[in-house]
Amino acid sequence: MDLGLRDKVVVVTGGASGLGRAMVEGFADEGAKVVIADINMEAGEEVAKRLSAGGACVRALWLDVRYQESIDAMVEAVLREFGRIDVLCNNAGVNVRKQALDVTRIDWDTVMDVNLKGMFFTAQAVGRVMVRQGRGKIINTASVSAVLGHPERAIYASAKGGVLILTKVLANEWAKFGINVNAIGPGFVRTPLTEALIDTPGVEENMVARIPLGRVGRTADIVGAVLFLASCQADYITGQLLLIDGGRTVD
Ligand SMILES: NC(=O)c1ccc[n+]([C@@H]2O[C@H](COP(=O)([O-])OP(=O)(O)OC[C@H]3O[C@@H](n4cnc5c(N)ncnc54)[C@H](O)[C@@H]3O)[C@@H](O)[C@H]2O)c1
Repeated sequence: MDLGLRDKVVVVTGGASGLGRAMVEGFADEGAKVVIADINMEAGEEVAKRLSAGGACVRALWLDVRYQESIDAMVEAVLREFGRIDVLCNNAGVNVRKQALDVTRIDWDTVMDVNLKGMFFTAQAVGRVMVRQGRGKIINTASVSAVLGHPERAIYASAKGGVLILTKVLANEWAKFGINVNAIGPGFVRTPLTEALIDTPGVEENMVARIPLGRVGRTADIVGAVLFLASCQADYITGQLLLIDGGRTVD
C-alpha cells in the first residue's frame, strides 16, 4: 500500500523519546521530512543525527508546548526550512499518577498544561498553517485513559478525555479546510513514561491479565496506525479515536 508520505513535512512533538521517537523513525523510513519538536534537545538531536546519518531528513527543534512563543517559534522555523506542514503528530505528554485525594493544583497544572492546553495550542498554531494550505493531517496522542477510569489517573485521564473530544471538535470545524484530525489511544507501552510503573513487581502481570492479546504494547505497535492516519489512505477518516491496546478496551 502506498502511503504517499515521501517528502511530506511531518512535525512530531515529543519526538525525542518513546512513542514519538518511534513515529519519527516510521516517517523517516517512509521518506518523509521529519521535525522532532521536543523540550529535550539533547535526545532530539541524538535521534536526528542517527537517522540523518542513515540518509533520512530529520531535524530537531526545541519546543516547550507550555509556552505560546515556543510553539510559534517552532512553527516559524519549520516553515522557514520546509515551507509547509503536512502532518502534525501532537504527542508530547507527561503524567503525575496520584490518588485523587492527594492531587494538588500544581500537579493538575503540570499535566494539563502539556497534555491538553499544550496540545490544543500546538494544534491551533499548526492548524492555521494547514488552513492556508487547504490540507493537512493532525494525529493527537490520546490514550486508553480517554475512555477508561483507571485509578490514580484523575488528571491524566481528564486531559486525555479532553484530547478525545478536542479531536472531534477540531475535526468538525476544520473538515472544510481539508484538514483531518484523528486521535490514537495507546494502551500500556513500555517507554520512559511508564517503565517505572511497568517494572513495579506484579504490575505487568496484572496489566497483561486484562489485555486479550496477552502483552503490553511496544512502541513499534503504534507506528503503523499513525502512518496510516497521516496517509492519503485515511483521507475519508476524521474525528476518530483509534485504540491500539491489544484489546484492553473490548469489554
Ligand atoms: N507509554 C504509554 O503507555 C502511553 C500510553 C498512552 C498514551 N501515551 C501518550 O503518548 C505520548 C508519548 O508518551 P511516551 O510514553 O512516549 O513518553 P516519553 O516520556 O517517552 O516521551 C514524551 C516526550 O514528550 C516530551 N515532552 C514532555 N514535556 C514536553 C513539553 N512541555 N514540550 C515539548 N515536549 C515535551 C519529552 O521530552 C519526551 O521526549 C504522551 O502523550 C502520553 O500521554 C503513552
